Amino acid sequence: MPQEELRVAKIRNGTVIDHIPAGKALQVLRILGIKGTEGHIATILMNVPSGKLGKKDLVKIEDMTVGSKQAQLIALIAPDASVDIVSNYEVKEKHRPSPPDVVEGLVKCPNMMCISNKRDEPIVPKLSVESKNPVVLRCVYCRTILPADEISAHLVE
Ligand code: CTP
Ligand code: ZN
Repeated sequence: MPQEELRVAKIRNGTVIDHIPAGKALQVLRILGIKGTEGHIATILMNVPSGKLGKKDLVKIEDMTVGSKQAQLIALIAPDASVDIVSNYEVKEKHRPSPPDVVEGLVKCPNMMCISNKRDEPIVPKLSVESKNPVVLRCVYCRTILPADEISAHLVE
């Protein structure tokens, strides 16, 4: 039995996001827009042992199904994540998402002069996924690059 299973109970229904890089669980929740006020029971495990020497984070959200669009966004932060849909205590679906081709309205362009950062212009930020491994985003308006490790610092709102 993997070590983390000794720490928390299995869930009856919901989504388990497993194999998140150690320390990034909160970023995954942010990218999913989960604030806690929605009322779902959630379990967040950080820095639990994984494999021989490694560590990982893991998130369980009960009574919520993470859809394929949302799962793609998880892959921006957690490229090796598995998104496991649990129903009646069993893993019914196991997804290994890859990043989407475009990220719209979720991540801000890092260039403060960009048209998408002007307050008076209602332009939704839009970045194309230039590379998926490692993840590199590029603003479609000003072509500025946003590397993977800066995505979480540029999430909208
Ligand atoms: N899980 C859970 N509640 C369930 C079933 C599974 O919380 N009712 C969790 C497990 O604890 C595990 C994850 O969901 O963290 C995936 O479960 P499973 O596919 O059974 O585990 P592994 O085979 O170890 O998955 P992987 O091969 O992706 O590592
Ligand atoms: Zn831009």
